Amino acid sequence: MSSASNTPTVAVLGTGIMGSGMARSLLRAGLSVRVWNRTPDKAEALVKDGAAVHADPAGAVRGADVVLTALNDGPAVAAVLRAASPGVRPGQLWLQTSTVGPDATLELARQATELKVTYYDSPVLGTRGPAEEGKLTVFVSGPPAAREALAPVLDAIGQRTVWVSHEPGGASRLKLVANTWVINLVGAVAECVGLAKALQVDPRLFLDALSGGPLDTPYLHAKAAALLTGDLTPSFAVSTALKDTRLILDAAEQADVRLDLTQASADRFVRAEAAGHGAEDMIATYFAGHAKE
Ligand SMILES: NC(=O)c1ccc[n+]([C@@H]2O[C@H](COP(=O)([O-])OP(=O)(O)OC[C@H]3O[C@@H](n4cnc5c(N)ncnc54)[C@H](OP(=O)(O)O)[C@@H]3O)[C@@H](O)[C@H]2O)c1
Repeated sequence: MSSASNTPTVAVLGTGIMGSGMARSLLRAGLSVRVWNRTPDKAEALVKDGAAVHADPAGAVRGADVVLTALNDGPAVAAVLRAASPGVRPGQLWLQTSTVGPDATLELARQATELKVTYYDSPVLGTRGPAEEGKLTVFVSGPPAAREALAPVLDAIGQRTVWVSHEPGGASRLKLVANTWVINLVGAVAECVGLAKALQVDPRLFLDALSGGPLDTPYLHAKAAALLTGDLTPSFAVSTALKDTRLILDAAEQADVRLDLTQASADRFVRAEAAGHGAEDMIATYFAGHAKE
């Protein structure tokens, strides 16, 4: 623990949409935060919020109490941790928040064991807004011994922590289930808006018809609004959603369960990405049904 304040110093590796939001939430909570990002501009943008920027992962993690990774996928996390290893010290806590899937999280746990750091499989539920506001839900699988030490970090980034299991893997499996819901829901919103337009039904009439009833959800209105206003700034990009959909389908295949809806969602994301919408918000799956737009 940082002696002066008795709060942990956190090294955030990866300051994309989620990492930069979490870094700002940690800083607002009064924690000392070091940041590193492959593309330096995104880390430097956090200086005005009080973060210390490091030029390499090893410098960022040196002396930190907690290492928080928020990177794209399992291979990226593994590579960045290898690069960080000269700065790692035994006993550090590693909160791994990226969505990497159950297989990769076990590989990362093995990497942690080699480095003598304690691994927490900690994927998060929530997107850009909740990350910025410290309102994520964090699923955690890892040894309970450091719960108290991790509490200031988990409380800063999330409104809720769900402790799933003592061994890594459980949290990543729960995350895939939760993302199956989100990914198919966004596809349903896109198809309803697309069908409404094609049938010359005002999509707003559809939104109004569901409003306040048992079929309503705030997510429907948020994602439909993005389409109707044309603001496709990514909270969760199409290409990231496709990566997660593939993790879900791989896990389902291994478990011998057939996910027809999720396969269809994957096909839509592939088409949307191929049409140039990969960096837009995942509601741009809409364009998979509108080849001419
Ligand atoms: N956005 C969401 O709503 C959401 C919600 C829950 C969980 N997640 C998960 O959180 C993680 C981050 O997502 P995000 O939305 O923040 O994505 P993002 O904005 O695209 O950020 C991805 C981060 O990973 C880095 N990165 C990618 N490949 C790398 C590599 N090979 N080596 C080093 N760094 C690499 C990027 O660096 P550069 O800046 O240099 O490209 C960036 O810092 C993903 O696992 C995602 O599935 C996202």
